[in-house]
Amino acid sequence: MSLVITDIGELFTGDEIRTGAAVAIDGDRIVWVGDTAGAPAADQRIDAGGAAVLPGFVDSHAHLMFAGDRAAEFGARMAGAAYTGGGIRTTVAATRSASDDDLRDNARRLIGEALRQGTTTIEIKSGYGLNVADEARSLRIAATLTPETTFLGAHVVPAEYRDRPDDYVSLVCGPMLDAVAPYAKWVDVFCERGAFDADQTRAIITAGQARGLGARLHGNQLGPGPGVRLAVELGAASVDHCTHLDDADVDALASSETVATLLPGAEFSTRSPYPDGRRLLDAGITVALATDCNPGSSYTSSMPFCIALAVREMHLTPTEAVAAATAGAAAALRRPDLGRITPGARADLIVLDAPSHLHLAYRPGVPLVRTVVHNGVLQ
Ligand code: NIG
Ligand code: FE
Repeated sequence: MSLVITDIGELFTGDEIRTGAAVAIDGDRIVWVGDTAGAPAADQRIDAGGAAVLPGFVDSHAHLMFAGDRAAEFGARMAGAAYTGGGIRTTVAATRSASDDDLRDNARRLIGEALRQGTTTIEIKSGYGLNVADEARSLRIAATLTPETTFLGAHVVPAEYRDRPDDYVSLVCGPMLDAVAPYAKWVDVFCERGAFDADQTRAIITAGQARGLGARLHGNQLGPGPGVRLAVELGAASVDHCTHLDDADVDALASSETVATLLPGAEFSTRSPYPDGRRLLDAGITVALATDCNPGSSYTSSMPFCIALAVREMHLTPTEAVAAATAGAAAALRRPDLGRITPGARADLIVLDAPSHLHLAYRPGVPLVRTVVHNGVLQ
């Protein structure tokens, strides 16, 4: 099956911005990019009518394996309560008592929401099971929904291990990792005061790496800490949140291959100061944007919303924010086949109801994604 999209007013390829362009797709790959006048014949033709075309968004950080919601916790926060991450245990209880079908249906619902807003790749973390059986089934289900699955058994220490956290770390490093390894591509740890410290984080990440999983970390979200430097030391693909950084953290990131993933939905929903995205870009660091979709700290599936926040609150230009939500997030997943519109890349792209990518930030909250092509197929 081949498809050609013509009369593209603005084509955001990830490498350049072209006008009057066309894109040809064969199967699940982009095979040609050029001027509309030279577009090849194809089985199917879409006339973009002067609209903007962008790579599909890559949401490289989402916690979709959960049940229930925490609207009441959000309400309390907006009335002045602080976010501590303690509510994670509420979702753990709901997740453990949910059926496999309920967990799958809830994740599918969120993937559908995200797709309608232009997300064509989504990473899915476990982390609300926190025992061997519930972490394993979370990842078994997640692996049927995306190739980008992440084991986050080290999200918090569950209540039953409160007095013996090191026993929980041993469980995560041993039996839990054994059970999830067939379904997980990545290993992640919430490295934060109140969750896991540097030594515990290092033990869990290296145990995951020994089983062939790639590393990623939650770091420096709620306060300064060792997460960012540890991510660099361990060769993590990404360190996510990066809200509280000092000069040494920025220097470490700048001299590494580790991507800094920013999750402004979390600062929005916890009414916290935003990370300094401008400082990271100015230091030459690769920045990704993602939703952090989860029922506690960021219950949004919308990459356009995160782009608008990144522009308004983290001082990225609209062009930088779209790049962070596409090629940047693809780099955070070490997926060079994603996030760009170039021959050989996967045929994931979106047509906006707007003439330029600027409108994603200029018209916040407006559903501007008109058409989604995923794996070469019109959705
Ligand atoms: O990325 N930081 C840790 N985990 C999530 C929050 C999860 C929750 O509150 O349920 C996050 O923000
Ligand atoms: Fe997260």
